[in-house]
Amino acid sequence: MDKKSKYNIDNYLNKCLILCGDSRSILMEFEDSADLIVTSPPYADARKKHYDSIPPDKYADWFMTFHDAFWSSLNEKGSLVINIKDKIVGGTRHRFVWETIDKLINLGWHCIDDYIWHKPNPMPGYWPTRLRDGWEYCFHLAKTTSPHIDQKAVAVPVGDWVNKRLNKLGENDSSRHNSSNESGFGRNISKWVGKEKVLPTNVLSMPLVGKNMGHPAVFPVELPSFFIKLLSRENKLIIDPFAGSGSTGIASLINNRNCLLVDNNPEYCKLANKRLVKEFSDLYNEVSYLNPTEDYQSAVKELKEPYLKKKVL
Ligand SMILES: C[S@@+](CC[C@H](N)C(=O)[O-])C[C@H]1O[C@@H](n2cnc3c(N)ncnc32)[C@H](O)[C@@H]1O
Repeated sequence: MDKKSKYNIDNYLNKCLILCGDSRSILMEFEDSADLIVTSPPYADARKKHYDSIPPDKYADWFMTFHDAFWSSLNEKGSLVINIKDKIVGGTRHRFVWETIDKLINLGWHCIDDYIWHKPNPMPGYWPTRLRDGWEYCFHLAKTTSPHIDQKAVAVPVGDWVNKRLNKLGENDSSRHNSSNESGFGRNISKWVGKEKVLPTNVLSMPLVGKNMGHPAVFPVELPSFFIKLLSRENKLIIDPFAGSGSTGIASLINNRNCLLVDNNPEYCKLANKRLVKEFSDLYNEVSYLNPTEDYQSAVKELKEPYLKKKVL
């Protein structure tokens, strides 16, 4: 096991390709290729010093310029997960995020679910009319209403409460009964007997990345990792079209998936490359940093095809 890597990597090699350029054109090379696009695009009017900043009123139209590329690179049962947050403009929440999702739905995307990424460690601060911001959206969109999904892959231990509760099963617990406040909701508690794992909720609690990674908007590797396990199959392709520091590449490799990372800022491509090499180079020789002006067709072909190789120790 590579001592430098903190990730628990197993016996197989997968590939991660980093391409520097505009994802609107690069993804067109990957028609019908990916199980999942999981990404965090630039937020409106954010990080002006670091990369393109789009005004909130223009955001939804700007995002639609990526629709063709996203749609064509996903396979029929593929999913698109967008981590994003709206912003305060003139004292109120601007709804450019909702406008963006509405426009995507009009273009044929199905809104499968809205996840909340809860951040237990948000930035401190004071605002006169609101509180600290402790969450962001992760929208799950898909090309069909029945995308690839493996709920068992993200199942969590059922927890101690169940044993205590099941030791005291009452008459009402073995049938579905109305709740005491007559809300219309009921549950059959006896169905929990023998269960060791349950599905998690769609609220994902994951701390913000604390240390400076050299990119202003790094999300925790656990976030793409959760969606990769849930919405893609082993050895299939994951794409991050706004790859930044390459967090999705790490999440893909530790979960035995191939990955395409695209960023239009060469500095971030270099950063992602450095990060991946640091984590995986001793075991994996798969990180390619290519400039799209070079001939990269063979690398593209290799990435699109399932790629398995035994670890060389
Ligand atoms: C919010 S950051 C992503 C950060 C990433 N999730 C991470 O963990 O490091 C968005 C990235 O999108 C890139 N970007 C903006 N427009 C792009 C485009 N048209 N094609 C490719 N990348 C783009 C920016 O350079 C920036 O690094």
